[in-house]
Amino acid sequence: MKVLHVAGARPNFVKIAPLTAAFEARGVEAPVVHTGQHYDEKMSHLFFDDLGIPRPKANLEVGSGSHAKQTAMVLDRFEGVLLEEKPDLVIVVGDVNSTAACALAAVKLGIVTAHVEAGLRSFDRTMPEEINRLVTDSICDLLYCSEQSGVDNLRAEGIPAWRTVLVGNVMIDSLLRHRDRARALGMRARMGLPDEYGMLTLHRPSNVDAEVDAARAVETVERVARLVPLVFPVHPRTRQAFARHGLLARLEGNPAVRLIDPLGYLEFLSLLDGARLVLTDSGGVQEETTVLGVPCLTLRPNTERPATVTDGTNRLVGGAPEAIEAAARNALSERVAARRPEFWDGRAAERIADHVLSGVLVRAAAGRNNWQEA
Ligand code: UD1
Ligand code: UDP
Repeated sequence: MKVLHVAGARPNFVKIAPLTAAFEARGVEAPVVHTGQHYDEKMSHLFFDDLGIPRPKANLEVGSGSHAKQTAMVLDRFEGVLLEEKPDLVIVVGDVNSTAACALAAVKLGIVTAHVEAGLRSFDRTMPEEINRLVTDSICDLLYCSEQSGVDNLRAEGIPAWRTVLVGNVMIDSLLRHRDRARALGMRARMGLPDEYGMLTLHRPSNVDAEVDAARAVETVERVARLVPLVFPVHPRTRQAFARHGLLARLEGNPAVRLIDPLGYLEFLSLLDGARLVLTDSGGVQEETTVLGVPCLTLRPNTERPATVTDGTNRLVGGAPEAIEAAARNALSERVAARRPEFWDGRAAERIADHVLSGVLVRAAAGRNNWQEA
């Protein structure tokens, strides 16, 4: 059997690593196709080394572009790879443009396709990721959910129950597998940071693209940095936007904010693990802080990962600088415990591999022409 894994952007690499390992451990061929959506050394290659992901069988080298261009290039180029590779199953993960484009190419060729991290919904269709989630889930044959809300959302959208399985969180599989190695790096000491420091990541278009939003984000950073020094690995989208709006130099001149390039997985995890507080708009970081027991303030009005709030350390704080400063002050006065939502136990990828090998591909293929009844 051949199970082809798709990855295009940074969070995808973290998610496919345990999947390829689980399939290979069961004697299944598990090639990886990299779409090339992310291509910088620090957004891509580092992750293959850190996480021990097999060298991609193909790199589609689509690079950056408008949503339409990027999606269309992935769709076009991935079709050619599928015709050559002829996999029994295609696995797409997450919610990036590569996810939706590859799912569409595979499904149209009649290849059974599975979505890992299915069913998450922010109910905010201004987010490009929400459109990718809706498109991907509505066409994939098998839907593996990381939390119960995913199962509930898919049920509400009329997806037949047998196509949906709650398996847990593959991103947490990676975290639990690599936490000890990350800790051993001792990044806090290596960077000369004090015992108490905060971490910050920002890259959502709604926080960084427009000048008014970027200025608000920078004011927030300045306010919180007066409470606790911050380490800020800057996403390329954010670096470009802040430079465009003349905000980068202002942050670079702030001694309480350490602006650095994006970090490799192990280095980032090492810093995250030791942080007193995290501010973020990342999807994955909301989940990782929950399991690490680090208070997380999410600079968004909503989350597609509600388990991180109800069963985790995450709080939605929106975008108002004063309110976020108050929330940060609160968070710094409290201690929170590490939490594990259901099945966030390091075995999600194994559950997916076992389910795939249980014969479900035959049912999925046969059920294509009778979607609701099969
Ligand atoms: C993408 C995903 C987002 C995900 C994020 C993870 C979509 C629509 N968005 O956002 O869901 O949370 O990845 O990090 O798929 N760039 C570089 N080097 C790179 C990659 C990008 O410089 O290696 C720059 C380019 O100028 C590019 C911009 O960053 O235009 C944005 O990249 P893109 O992949 O379009 O979206 P992200 O913001 O990275
Ligand atoms: N991450 C990393 N280095 C960084 C920032 C993030 O290794 O400098 C990791 C983080 O631990 C998580 C993943 O990248 O595993 C999340 O990716 P990102 O925030 O880019 O995307 P999102 O989860 O928002 O889609």
